[in-house]
Amino acid sequence: MENLLNLIPDDTDRTDGILKVTGGATYSAEYKIEGLTYGVLVQSTIAKGKITVLETKKAEGAPGVIKVLSHLNLNNSVPRYAKDDNVTIDRNIQKVFYNDQVYFAGQPIALVIADTYERAVYAASLIKANYQEEKHHTYLEKNLENSISPEGKDYLRNEKDAYKNSEVYLEAEYHQLNNIHNPMELGSITANWESDEKLTVYDKTQGVFGSQKHYAGLYGMDSKNVRVIAPFVGGAFGMALHTWPYQDAAVIGAKITKLPLKLMLTRMQMFTMVGYRPETKQFIGIGASKDGVLNGITHNAWGVTSTYDNFTEGTVGGTQFMYKCPNVNTQYKLVKLDVSNPIWMRGPGEATGMFALECAMDELAFKLNMDPIAFRLKNYATVHPVNNLPWSSKFLDECYELGAKKIGWYNRNPKPKSMTEDGMLVGYGMASGVFNAGRGAATARVILDENGKLTIQSAITDIGPGTGVMMKSVAMDSFKMDAIQIIVELGDTNLPPAPTQGGSNTTSSVGSAVYDACTALKEKMVEVYNQSFGEQKVYDDFKFNKEGFNIKGKSFSYVDLLKKAGLKELEVTRESRSGTERQKYVFNSFSVHFTKVHVHPLTGMVKVKEVVCALDAGKIISEKQARSQMIGGVVGGIGMALTEEGVYDHRYGVYTNNNFADYHVPVHADIPPIDVLFVNKPDPYINPIGAKGLGEVSIIGLAPSIANAIFHATGKRVRDLPITLDKIA
Ligand code: MOS
Repeated sequence: MENLLNLIPDDTDRTDGILKVTGGATYSAEYKIEGLTYGVLVQSTIAKGKITVLETKKAEGAPGVIKVLSHLNLNNSVPRYAKDDNVTIDRNIQKVFYNDQVYFAGQPIALVIADTYERAVYAASLIKANYQEEKHHTYLEKNLENSISPEGKDYLRNEKDAYKNSEVYLEAEYHQLNNIHNPMELGSITANWESDEKLTVYDKTQGVFGSQKHYAGLYGMDSKNVRVIAPFVGGAFGMALHTWPYQDAAVIGAKITKLPLKLMLTRMQMFTMVGYRPETKQFIGIGASKDGVLNGITHNAWGVTSTYDNFTEGTVGGTQFMYKCPNVNTQYKLVKLDVSNPIWMRGPGEATGMFALECAMDELAFKLNMDPIAFRLKNYATVHPVNNLPWSSKFLDECYELGAKKIGWYNRNPKPKSMTEDGMLVGYGMASGVFNAGRGAATARVILDENGKLTIQSAITDIGPGTGVMMKSVAMDSFKMDAIQIIVELGDTNLPPAPTQGGSNTTSSVGSAVYDACTALKEKMVEVYNQSFGEQKVYDDFKFNKEGFNIKGKSFSYVDLLKKAGLKELEVTRESRSGTERQKYVFNSFSVHFTKVHVHPLTGMVKVKEVVCALDAGKIISEKQARSQMIGGVVGGIGMALTEEGVYDHRYGVYTNNNFADYHVPVHADIPPIDVLFVNKPDPYINPIGAKGLGEVSIIGLAPSIANAIFHATGKRVRDLPITLDKIA
């Protein structure tokens, strides 16, 4: 493809990096607005029942308190809430203070608004609730009977449970507890009604348009009267893919008091108010012939959801097409519990599902006495087994090779418990990952000004991966410009439309829009040149360079061109979206993770010593950002594998570890050197820049690679995440 980017790998810094680490970035809880008020939420202390008494008088009389909002006085002040009897909006967003019902422990039941944060906190402590409690259920294992099938029907390819007829097969159960996103930045919002019909929201969100639509919808307003601003987001991992009740509480509170209001969750509140990766139980049955040809896979999963929404993720989806296997059946069920609603979390579904499948593949390879990579290659799918379409590009085989070479896979002694180093058991493990490589509609505007600066605008948010510098890189390549000549503006509904940042879609979508807009701007320059100089040059006559362009030996700067044309600036806006290629090909990104672990022979303590990831995500637009993104996924994956678990006390339906002292996210000391290798071959069909996404495949496959390494080190299979030392020793 001739229009593919010819990117020189650049190490351009992030557009937001220095601001973020020097306090120069303004987050949604940091906007200083005249007359700002502070909101603090009061939460339910029971998991299920009815609020019979809500004592708010003391709080209302406390110093500085402006308003206490709850179901007792919300009345019909929110038109969207009154529209139907559902407790949710758009199926999954719980209406805040909607009625006296409690659906989970930690549900917001009142909002205190005061003139300072401290006064709001104190007043909130004065609110007392009495409940008529009902029996709650928070235990997945004990409620499997009450599951539902959200997708209606199960997947079946040819024969059901065919694995049982294989020469070699295994059956195994896998389990993991809730993972909570816990980005550094807490859920926070500043809502400012400039008039009764005009709202500005500084929001922690992955998509400003999703937020805008939701807030406008609350009051039946025209979206153009709601502006959502989110230029900096301090991580999200999926928790801000849609709005939550705390945000409604702030918007509604500010509307009622007619005062700007800021609401920031506490770390503890992050555990029940903004979703999580749901606890999941899985069964895999898998069988092959003695020479390692897969015959059948059965994959059944039970995921947790709330009573008020059927949150669904692609847990068993990857199993349907990851390997060439004639007989596959999968089943996915939801267990509705008295818990808050889950939401997508990095590698949603696949991270969970691939843990089971890739551990089972390792185990079967061991039974077959085959190398795990050789076993995977023997069953390598070149045509998508579900819909029989070819992949747009697939270099998973190269990923196996690259990673294996780097970590020294073939130098290991594959026999379990055979290797030691410094008195520790040594284990090597690997696993693969896959995720949809999507592309959404996105718009970008590029503006060249009379000083030769280029501004790129798109409403996309940058939640951490370096989207701003990705946009910059595409433009730098297009114009052969230096980074310093380019300004990026993003994260604002006043900018050209972009999708929500998520699902590994952003580079593919927004990068393409920037690419198309840059091309269009260059074409426009040719037009302007011809008009200004009375010539008939064509696009191919122009060679673009740092300062401008060269036509048949003559150089022109951008500044000269605009001056000559009498223009202050030159501007182009382009929308870019996928087309019919989606009917001809399947689009996926692929990853392979290799890990080396040390396991203490007596205590079972695990230390990850080395991680190598090899990745097929098409063309890598910015190597530095892509590498950082992969490292972040690996760190998240190490947490998922070894330390992170939301633990309920089922007697009360509450978390026992809703804080950073007890819920362990990996710290620097837990993280080994991480190597990231890119196949870096452009996908010829996905978009004009050849890039597939990589946000999700960075974590998918990491946890099973560690579980498999622990097996190699110890001879023990642990199928329950996180793999804490008590499960090994
Ligand atoms: Mo990601 S789970 O698409 O934010």
